[in-house]
Amino acid sequence: MSGILLALGLSCAAAAAQDAIALQVDTAQPGAKIDRHIFGQFMEQLGTQIYNGVWVGPHSKIPNVHGIRKDVVAALRELHVPDVRWPGGCYADQYHWRDGVGKTRTTRINTSWGDVLDTNAFGTDEYFDFLRQIGAQAYISVNLGSGTVEEAADWLEYMTADKPTTLAKQRAANGHPAPYKVAFLGLGNESWDCGGLMTPTEYTARMRRFARFVNNLNPAEKMAKIAVGPGGPDTDWTDAVMSTWQKRHGWSFDIDGMSLHSYTVFDGWPPHMPSTDFGKKEYAEVLKETLKMNGLLDQQSAEMDKYDPEKKISLVVDEWGTWLAPMPGSNPHFLQQQNSLRDAILAALNLNIFARHADRVRAANIAQMVNVLQAMILTDGPKMLLTPTYHVFKMYVPFQDSTFLPVSYDAGSYTFENFTLPRVDVLAAKTKDGKIAVSLTNIDPDKPAEFTVSLPGVSAGTAHGQVLAAPHVDSVNTFTAPNTVAPKPMTAQVSDGKLTVTLPPASVTVLTVD
Ligand code: AHR
Repeated sequence: MSGILLALGLSCAAAAAQDAIALQVDTAQPGAKIDRHIFGQFMEQLGTQIYNGVWVGPHSKIPNVHGIRKDVVAALRELHVPDVRWPGGCYADQYHWRDGVGKTRTTRINTSWGDVLDTNAFGTDEYFDFLRQIGAQAYISVNLGSGTVEEAADWLEYMTADKPTTLAKQRAANGHPAPYKVAFLGLGNESWDCGGLMTPTEYTARMRRFARFVNNLNPAEKMAKIAVGPGGPDTDWTDAVMSTWQKRHGWSFDIDGMSLHSYTVFDGWPPHMPSTDFGKKEYAEVLKETLKMNGLLDQQSAEMDKYDPEKKISLVVDEWGTWLAPMPGSNPHFLQQQNSLRDAILAALNLNIFARHADRVRAANIAQMVNVLQAMILTDGPKMLLTPTYHVFKMYVPFQDSTFLPVSYDAGSYTFENFTLPRVDVLAAKTKDGKIAVSLTNIDPDKPAEFTVSLPGVSAGTAHGQVLAAPHVDSVNTFTAPNTVAPKPMTAQVSDGKLTVTLPPASVTVLTVD
């Protein structure tokens, strides 16, 4: 019986109740690269995410560097965050970048999120300072809905010009002589809805002009342009974007990716599914729902293949995660929810799905990073806690820029009332430094799962990693009990080419074989 099971108080009889799952990892058939940008974050100017969650200002008593919270930066550095999408979301299509640069900032009303005052104290230069502190790249969404092509082109010039243009000199006067690097540029956001209620034809007409004129002016850096894609299984929108790309003429414009948004259980406004105090039925229901991501990616990839069989255009899932009922007493427009063991398992399942589609899905951004929706971090004044989802992202760091390895196993299913799910889920990959990493998720909240993992080419060795489990499927971390859902170290031996591990019920385990 493993130490993990002992720690959770499970009996040997329970552990032995299931036969071991024979898992084969096929090291001879490596698949696509699992791009590190699949582990991206999303930080919208929304609720308490930026103001209080990330930005407290240089005069705050909360420890900060240039106004940015030290505790939040230290936690995010551990995740090796590849990129942070900003400033929205819906907010991006009302954002005017000049409001947020220089000594005098423009105060406006954030009409996307709760009509609260928006001081613009956090603007372009603060965003890049934040990225520098956490070691991430920029994903800027430009205002295609209510802004002009000229305004967006000027913003790119301010950020990226490497020659002494007037806007580059303005950037230098604001303390940043060197150009910034913009890795991704979003051409609007949800233009079929909050981004301007456009038809596919209206969007692609506007997209062509933005893609043609809004450019990176630093030739030393590559910037990927991401068109707005659908928010679900809509193929008309995808067809419009992809056929526009197919018909482009030579150098006149190009795009590199198309976005896809898909939230789990957004059941109306405001959503009703609670993020706390739920049982196994809601656990099974939400996980069943999230697994639809697999079919959605199959469908969208197949549609894109019709125009782009060589898969030049990336599918960028730049908003995904749980969207649950607002916390009682919170402003419903601030999208504050708790984050439970269920969110951790849901995060692992989605990351595994993205990895299985890595030939087309080359970036994704979970919504959102701090204090909003399925967050990594929650703050309350000077206090900060790490959510179960944070722990999964940290455990998955070995998968960043790894190479997908196929697996085969037969583990059966888990059923609760009328919800039937796979009992387990597995991801295997060869890491950047040539090791084998395996993620094993036991979806079943009642029974442990024993795995015998065959690793061709590895006769002996040690697997190190962590296991994330908790007393209940709705266990959460709170400011008074911040470690209820926290990973514990796990070590297992490989002998005769086999690794044997037993996973607790409802858990995520990531192991790397030395
Ligand atoms: O993440 C919250 C909102 O969800 C975003 O602003 C918008 O793009 C989506 O509808």
